[in-house]
Amino acid sequence: MKVLEERIREEGRILSDTVLKVDSFLNHQVDTGLALQIGREFREVFGDLPVTKILTVEASGIQFAMAAGIAYKVPFIYAKKKKAVTLSESVYSAPVHSFTRQEDYRISISQNYLGPDDKVLIIDDFLATGAALVGLADIVEQSGAQLLGVGCVIEKSFQEGRSLLEKKGIAVHALARISSMAPGEVHFIANEEM
Ligand code: G4P
Ligand code: NA
Ligand code: NA
Repeated sequence: MKVLEERIREEGRILSDTVLKVDSFLNHQVDTGLALQIGREFREVFGDLPVTKILTVEASGIQFAMAAGIAYKVPFIYAKKKKAVTLSESVYSAPVHSFTRQEDYRISISQNYLGPDDKVLIIDDFLATGAALVGLADIVEQSGAQLLGVGCVIEKSFQEGRSLLEKKGIAVHALARISSMAPGEVHFIANEEM
């Protein structure tokens, strides 16, 4: 997605070999017009699939899951990282190992909102190690719903997330695929559909 790549080049800040900060337009302050455009782009790349629900995990996947939900005219659900008292009803939950924080946590969603009749797209901001996305895929499987694919705004192709998901037979699309990055220099992999 050209405009996305341009914004990453202009505003992205490379904090280390592996961490890209995009707080000015994606992750902290959110460019709402761009977020909606990203939702439409997900619909373009996945096409007219019979999606019934978009699934993400809090916090920074939410705006893109909502944008995709708007594009497909379906609800989105965000998995919670802390078990809320109001989630005391039955939940699907899965463990996630955070490599950046070196800790394990659980993500959960209410069983009221996902079931065997659902066809799901998982959407997130970053595809890095893929740990959170594998957790979401686990939840979709527990629910009996069908997983149609995983869409990420930015993929860091030098990390293992994509291959982890593809090994499970999951279709993966990313709107900007970074092959390598260093201060002042971000390289993208060309996407077939762009
Ligand atoms: P993941 O690939 O499954 O997301 O797991 P990982 O442990 O690698 O990443 C941990 C968190 O850091 C995730 O956010 C992920 O989106 C975010 N992240 C990974 N790489 C980058 C990066 O280069 N830049 C930025 N800005 N974030 C990155 P999270 O734990 O789900 O938290 P939240 O920020 O969504 O609340
Ligand atoms: Na995220
Ligand atoms: Na994040």
